[in-house]
Amino acid sequence: MIDNRSYVDQLKAKFGSGPILITGATGSVGFELVRHLCKDFKIIAVGRDLDKLAQLRELGAETIPLDLSQQDAVSALQSIQPFPNLVIAAHGSGLMQNFSEIPFTRISPYMNANLTSFIHLAHLSAQHDCKMIAVGSVIGYTCNKNYELYHISKQAVQALKKLKVQVINPPTIRDSGFFKEMPKRSGFRKLGAFKMFSASSKQIAEEIVKMAVNGKKVVNVGLVGKLARIASILQ
Ligand SMILES: NC(=O)c1ccc[n+]([C@@H]2O[C@H](COP(=O)([O-])OP(=O)(O)OC[C@H]3O[C@@H](n4cnc5c(N)ncnc54)[C@H](OP(=O)(O)O)[C@@H]3O)[C@@H](O)[C@H]2O)c1
Repeated sequence: MIDNRSYVDQLKAKFGSGPILITGATGSVGFELVRHLCKDFKIIAVGRDLDKLAQLRELGAETIPLDLSQQDAVSALQSIQPFPNLVIAAHGSGLMQNFSEIPFTRISPYMNANLTSFIHLAHLSAQHDCKMIAVGSVIGYTCNKNYELYHISKQAVQALKKLKVQVINPPTIRDSGFFKEMPKRSGFRKLGAFKMFSASSKQIAEEIVKMAVNGKKVVNVGLVGKLARIASILQ
């Protein structure tokens, strides 16, 4: 992943050997993060996919199977002892459907997982004086048709900056599990056709590590935002 070990060493100098809580650890970005960090840090990995969680344990991570759309997820997060030094919230899912056709009962669980759980993690991080990095999306800047709920959740995740959460807003992630569930002609794929909008989960994981070290966004958010606006005109 990162060519030299300097970022991992700097991370270690900053946070000791952890623990680091990584949600979405069973997903493309989260898994890359665990793979990269698990030799040097105690990792607490959260996800739902039991096979992937087993793979993460083989890598040395501690795992918590957790559905973050459920109310009791909050108490599971609260009971993590000791609370980690660093929280990386890399979970989430796309919900690309005509808004009026989304089943009413799907909305709350979706927003619980895609937004409320981020707020709970920010709250716990603030209480424990712990650094938090959240994965937003470039879709937080612009909204494609049928992406409204995803857009709203990611725009709100961006606003967590007000709560001292560092937010990274990736462009399309090429190797993401997201695309299994997406219509082929979705705007995401269209955005992905622009090379500058596309990154690998490895690159995003690398940028998250750098952000944790230097506190800066490595992705040029201004540029990404500008490009996102142009892309929305092109849709
Ligand atoms: N994919 C993209 O192009 C893209 C672009 C910009 C931003 N992002 C953002 O980047 C982050 C990571 O995306 P990714 O590409 O790594 O996606 P991914 O490969 O689809 O992984 C999504 C992760 O989120 C977890 N998750 C989803 N719903 C959950 C729930 N209710 N409870 C607990 N965990 C849940 C999944 O867990 P299980 O698999 O175990 O269910 C999985 O670990 C997300 O926040 C996404 O919005 C993605």
